[in-house]
Amino acid sequence: MKIETKCLHAGYTPKNTEPRVVPIVQSTTYVYDSTDDVAAVFDDPTKSLIYSRFENPTVMAVEEKINALEGGIGAMCTSSGQAASLLSLLNILQAGDSFISAATIYGGTINLFAYTLKKLGIECIFVDADAPEDEIRAAFKPNTKAVFGETLANPALSVFDIEKFAKIAHENGVPLIIDNTFPTPILCRPFEHGADIIVHSTTKYMDGHAVQGGGVIVDSGNFDWTSGKFPEFTEPDESYHGTIYTKTYGKAAYIIKARMQLMRDFGCYPSAQSAFYLNLGLETLPIRMKQYCENAKIVSEFLEANDKVESVNYPGLKGSKYHDLAQKYLPDGCAGVISFVIKGGRSTAVKFMDSLKLASNEVHVADIRTCVLHPASATHRQLTDEQLVAAGINGGLIRLSVGLENVEDILDDLKQAFAAI
Ligand SMILES: Cc1ncc(COP(=O)(O)O)c(C=O)c1O
Repeated sequence: MKIETKCLHAGYTPKNTEPRVVPIVQSTTYVYDSTDDVAAVFDDPTKSLIYSRFENPTVMAVEEKINALEGGIGAMCTSSGQAASLLSLLNILQAGDSFISAATIYGGTINLFAYTLKKLGIECIFVDADAPEDEIRAAFKPNTKAVFGETLANPALSVFDIEKFAKIAHENGVPLIIDNTFPTPILCRPFEHGADIIVHSTTKYMDGHAVQGGGVIVDSGNFDWTSGKFPEFTEPDESYHGTIYTKTYGKAAYIIKARMQLMRDFGCYPSAQSAFYLNLGLETLPIRMKQYCENAKIVSEFLEANDKVESVNYPGLKGSKYHDLAQKYLPDGCAGVISFVIKGGRSTAVKFMDSLKLASNEVHVADIRTCVLHPASATHRQLTDEQLVAAGINGGLIRLSVGLENVEDILDDLKQAFAAI
């Protein structure tokens, strides 16, 4: 974005200077030279900017950056991670369709899938992601149109076998959607393992500073929507001048349809200001992810050796059931979130958490500051006992999001809280 600079100092006039940071374009609207120019944009919305619900230059700069990080064909930012998950599916599914999801996913996503999408006539078939391939294949129905999983599940911290699910999804002619929130593209790039669409809650590590909620959908451009199973892509869209997405936009059909149909109608778009904050987070993402991994490795080993701890879930630990999958999909580290079951169940977990001084009790995760949460009383509160078990949640389970403080300070805080129980 070029800015004309009028020099205040005599004798020196810089030309074509650009701001060093992404500018905040705080404008909902754009000016055209003529009525015909406006009409042309409505005919093909990809030719220019229309209105802030569709696009904004600050948001677009961030979309391009995330798209490049994930290696996609296009990205669309949303106002939250929930909005990204919702639109990623509504772009494919209609009432009467079903999709398959791993049971071990974020509690809010389970609510969305099990209750709210059900009210819209869309059925979610939950499967045990660790089940043998044939059991997963058996869950498909003729109306199944997508498969969904979290690379590193919140808070169970199971590692999703992306290649196994990509293979099964593609055998059944449907795309694989991956929520890659916890690893971020710094630690895992799901498209390289066969995923077709990626969603993120950028509220987590990408923002990283607990300042701004957001989400993003990234399209690999690799999925073939022309099999006949997805008529919304191959038949004229009544709501958009009869556009046939696969014909007009080719490999970018999915992400353009998401913007032109769903963002237009649902309007869950991020503000320029929030994209600006997200961009600041992205600029330090690689260095932060490295440090989260280092701190969490030390803390997970400390917890594993503690006799007041029943079990530790951190796929980076050698004893973890998911260690092999972590080596494959997360070779540079497993991010900063650890969950562990404290001996003594729910009441001991609550006492331990209330004794922490450096780590704060927060409904947040993946922050630069260390924080804890009791999933059974918070994020997963709405789940039935059966769903809690399926989601890998125990009453004594504590989710610990290791921050970027000095790791010795984090360990000291945990030690004094263990002493208090
Ligand atoms: C893995 C995962 N996906 C999606 C979400 C939803 O994101 P948001 O809170 O930005 O709507 C969360 C929130 O914690 C999450 O952890």
